[in-house]
Formats: sequence, C-alpha cells, structure tokens
Amino acid sequence: MRARHSVYALFLILAAVAPACSGDDGKTGATGPAGAQGPKGDTGDEGDSGPRGPAGPEGPAGPAGPEGPAGPVGMGDGGETGVGGAGSTPLSSSCLSPCHGFTGVVEQWKTSTHFATYVANLGGEEVDTWTGTAGCGNCHAIDGIQQRLEENVRFIGTTGPTNVSHGQINYLNSTTNKVSESTYAGHASVAVVHCTTCHEVTEENDPHRTGAPYTPGSFPLRVPTGSSEVAYIEKSSAVGLSDGTPIEPYGSGNACMWCHKSRKDVTNYITATGNSLTSRNWGPHEGPQTDIFTGLGGYHYTGKTYNNSSHQALEKGCVSCHMPSTDLNQGVGDHSFRPQLSACTTGGCHSSATSFDIIGGQTAMKESLRQLRKALNDEGLLTRASAAPFDVLTPAQLADANFAEDAARPGNTGLSGDVTGAVYNYLLMARGAAGGIHNPVYVRQLIFDSYFALEGSAPSTIPVRPGG
Ligand code: HEC
Ligand code: HEC
Ligand code: HEC
Ligand code: HEC
Repeated sequence: MRARHSVYALFLILAAVAPACSGDDGKTGATGPAGAQGPKGDTGDEGDSGPRGPAGPEGPAGPAGPEGPAGPVGMGDGGETGVGGAGSTPLSSSCLSPCHGFTGVVEQWKTSTHFATYVANLGGEEVDTWTGTAGCGNCHAIDGIQQRLEENVRFIGTTGPTNVSHGQINYLNSTTNKVSESTYAGHASVAVVHCTTCHEVTEENDPHRTGAPYTPGSFPLRVPTGSSEVAYIEKSSAVGLSDGTPIEPYGSGNACMWCHKSRKDVTNYITATGNSLTSRNWGPHEGPQTDIFTGLGGYHYTGKTYNNSSHQALEKGCVSCHMPSTDLNQGVGDHSFRPQLSACTTGGCHSSATSFDIIGGQTAMKESLRQLRKALNDEGLLTRASAAPFDVLTPAQLADANFAEDAARPGNTGLSGDVTGAVYNYLLMARGAAGGIHNPVYVRQLIFDSYFALEGSAPSTIPVRPGG
C-alpha cells in the first residue's frame, strides 16, 4: 500500500451492535464467562463517540437490545476489539453464512483497503479536511453514498449536479461560471467504506435487528443497479456544460463507479490554450479506474476515435473481476475487492492464465507507459517530489513501475490543450489502468495519441495506432 495521508483521520466509534442474530432463545450473557472473540459484526447503530484510539477495549454500550446468543464482536466503525460476545453461546449458523464465517464476507472485507486504510489512519488529524468544506466525504465518509443518493450535497448557486442521483458530483457554479465539485453535506466523522456505505441497511433488513436468517437478495446495494440504471463520470459533452457522461449499465458494478473515478470534467478542465499545472494535485484523483474502464474519461484528441476492449462486455463491470462469487460466501461475491485470477480463467477467455500478465500484456503496456512518462519528464512536466523545487523524475524513477506515485509538476504555465491532455492521460493511466487490464485497446490509443502530441511521432513501443 502506498503511503497515505491521514485524511481518513477519524474518531473511533465503536458501534453498539445489539447481539440479536437470532434472538429467539437468548441466554443471559452477563453471567456467562467471556466468550471467545466472535467474528466481527456489521456497523451497528451509530453509538456515542467512543474513546479515541485503534483498539478501544470496549465500545460504549449499545441500546439495550433483546438478550440473544453471543453477539458478534461489535466491529462498529472499526474498533479493533469490539464488545465481547455476551455469553458463551456460539453464533448460530444463520449468522455464519455468508457474513460471519471464518473466511466469510466480513473477514474478506477486513483484508481490503476499504477497511485497512481506515484503521491505518485512525487517530490522524485531518478529519476536517473531508467533512468540512471539501468534497472528500462524498466518497470517503461512511455515509457518502447515502448522502449523495438523498441529493444532500452542497453546491454554490441555484443548481447542483444534473445527475447527482446517478453519481455525478460536478456542477456549474453560477457565481464563477466554472465547473466545481459539490461538497459533502453529511455529518459523519468516520472515513471508511463500510458495509453500510454500499448496502442499504434498514431496521427491516438488518439481520442484527431482525434475527432473521440470511436470504439471498436481502442485503441490497444503495446505488441503483437495475438493467437500465447508469452511473455518471464527470466529463461533459461540451465546454461550458456540466452534463457529465452516462456509463453503460453495469448492474452491481455501478456501485464501484460512484467513487472510483477522476472527479474531473476533462472537457472543461483543460482549455485549448493557456493551461497551467497549478499544483502537484493537478489532474485526475487517485483511483480513476472508471474513466479508463469505460473508454470515456480520457482527454480525447481531435479527429481520433476511441475503442473498447472485450472487457467492457463483462456484465457487472468491476464486480465481474473484483468480486466473483465464491463458495466461501454461499456464492456471494468476494468482498476482499481484489481482482481474482479466476475471473480471467473462467468463461473460456484466458483459461491457461497463471498471472494477470496475460500474453505479456501488462509488461508491454507498462513499457509503453514508461515511454510516455519519459517524454513528459523530458518536458519538465512530471515530479514525484512533495515540495518545491519539484524536481523531475530521476533515471531510477523513470525506470520503475510506481506510476501512481508520479504527479504533475507545478510551475508549468501556458501549455496547449494537447500537451496538457498528455499529462492528464498519463496520470489517468498511471492511477487507473491496472497495467492496461482495465481497457487494453483504449489505453494503447491514449498512450499513442498523447505521445504523438509531445513528440510528433509514434512511440517505438506502439508503432501503429490500434484501431487506426
Ligand atoms: C469521487 C469520489 C472521491 C472523492 C470526492 C474524493 N476521493 Fe479520495 N479517493 C477515492 C478513491 C476511489 C480512492 C482510492 C483510489 C485507489 O487506491 O485506487 C481515493 C484515494 C485517496 C487517497 C489515497 C491515495 C493513496 O495514495 O493511496 C487520498 C490521500 C485521497 N483519496 C484524498 C482525498 C481528498 C483530500 C479528497 C477531497 C479533496 C478526496 N480524496 C475526494 C475517491 C474519492
Ligand atoms: C464497496 C462496496 C461494498 C461494501 C463495502 C460491502 N459490499 Fe457487500 N456487496 C457489494 C456488491 C457490489 C455486491 C454484489 C456482488 C454481485 O453482484 O455479485 C455485494 C453483495 C453482498 C451480499 C449479497 C447480496 C444480497 O442481497 O444477498 C451480502 C450479504 C453482502 N454483500 C454483505 C456485505 C457485508 C456484511 C459487508 C461489510 C462487511 C459488505 N457487504 C460490504 C458491495 C459492497
Ligand atoms: C464509497 C466510495 C467507494 C466505493 C463505492 C467503492 N470504493 Fe473502492 N475505494 C474507495 C476508497 C476511498 C479507497 C481507498 C481506501 C480507503 O480510503 O478506504 C478504495 C480502495 C479500493 C481498492 C484498493 C486500491 C489500492 O490501491 O489498494 C480496490 C481494489 C477497490 N477500492 C475496489 C472497489 C470495487 C471493486 C468497488 C465496487 C464493488 C469499490 N471499490 C467501491 C472508495 C470506494
Ligand atoms: C477484466 C477484469 C477487471 C475489470 C473489469 C476491472 N478490473 Fe480492476 N483490476 C483488474 C486487475 C487484474 C487488476 C490488478 C492489476 C495488477 O495487480 O497488476 C486491477 C486493479 C485495480 C485496482 C488497483 C488495485 C491495487 O491493489 O492497486 C483498482 C482500485 C481497481 N482495479 C478498480 C476497478 C474498478 C473500479 C473497476 C470498474 C470501473 C475495475 N477495477 C474493473 C481487473 C479488472
């Protein structure tokens, strides 16, 4: 994992999980010997703020729930150690499947960056940067998706994002007449991508409250996933508009696309002339995978057409590769969110693949991306330094594959649209292309065109533009 800023700084809230997984025959837990630590539970109701720190020994008491069998550890919003099981009664099988099993959904999620980044940043001090005036909470706060779906976002002027209920967050600021990002309007002080961030958990379907056994389909996603439901990236159809771009419907894959995108409306972000790399934060945000995956989000050069690979036909998009169903979960998708080789080898596509570097595709793409990187660096457009004088990349850095560490080099002004577009495309791919896998054809086209804009010739690693 890359070094992370402490924007996820937060206060520990050990939620109170009322231990009522199947609260029919609960024994009085208070007198039982302390149970072994049970698997972690879902977010409980928001409890009072707990003591700050990574491993509060005990969370604040939850609302008195019906006495049930040993409750799952009150994972709450990330306490390392939750409230211990109330008694010694083991978890009933309805709790174990698919969520609270030894290797089930909850344990998988805990191995993911969605959870780990949160823990790594516990106790940090920058919580205000994302709950305050900035837009960060729209994706980093535990209730970011919920707030956006309720159209509760802040914007300046009279009109917010046109498609906020489909994930768009940019809008035309009527004061500056510029495209701006709407800001987070919720009040959560916890930055984590939790079960309840993605899933709509209510009193009626929360198994911790109902005690009902899991039935498939009882844990719906928040974002619309119907066969005609689309999510949006921010890129607009024309300069001066802020209409965003709809994506093909990807069912449950829509869920990822609400967050994993560039946050930039490249149509309005880059002008024909006179562009400046204003800071090292210039460019697409970390994790702009959707912009690449859809083949829609790059800076597109005039007169060129852009294509997609066969990966775009995968029905659930991101979920098809990152969450294939697993027997560990009764067929529920893998919640580690890591891409799985099984997704490549099933379906007859890459049946003999033993790594993601299928027929050397990733190696080749990285080589091409390195060539573009060098061309940009030769123009003084890239840096990895975090402070002035913002040195360009060293030969050793130019040779490595840590593309996501590269940033725009501040101080460059008066740039043409096409050169600025090359910087933008490079950063988009460096942060979101997964070594080309997210859209092999599109990625090579972007590299080709961006390189051509800088050098006036084809890159030697891609002598002929794919797709013409
Ligand atoms: C549109 C959703 C969205 C918004 C809004 C957003 N982020 Fe993020 N951010 C993400 C995603 C997704 C990732 C994970 C990217 C990855 O690891 O591939 C991320 C990652 C990060 C990282 C970690 C980078 C790393 O090196 O691991 C930082 C720091 C960060 N965001 C800061 C911010 C700040 C500060 C703001 C507000 C100014 C913000 N983000 C707003 C979606 C968003
Ligand atoms: C980043 C978003 C995200 C997070 C966080 C997340 N899930 Fe999921 N979950 C999904 C997606 C997407 C699917 C659907 C996968 C598919 O279509 O195959 C899913 C499916 C499920 C299902 C099956 C759906 C049903 O209605 O039967 C269950 C159960 C589930 N998740 C439980 C959890 C639990 C418990 C947590 C927290 C430990 C969690 N999820 C965290 C995205 C998420
Ligand atoms: C609510 C916003 C949000 C949603 C929805 C979301 N993510 Fe994330 N994702 C993030 C953020 C933010 C990070 C960075 C870690 C963190 O802060 O939790 C991240 C990190 C990741 C990482 C690790 C990246 C790294 O560099 O280590 C993967 C993989 C990932 N997400 C996949 C997915 C998939 C697949 C989905 C859809 C099922 C999804 N995410 C849905 C916000 C989101
Ligand atoms: C065709 C399968 C496939 C699809 C579809 C796909 N991914 Fe990936 N993704 C991968 C693979 C494979 C990697 C890992 C590349 C590597 O490790 O070299 C990856 C890497 C990532 C990473 C970085 C993980 C890390 O640990 O650095 C994130 C985040 C991510 N994908 C998110 C997404 C999102 C969001 C979508 C949908 C917009 C998506 N992916 C669609 C296969 C896929």
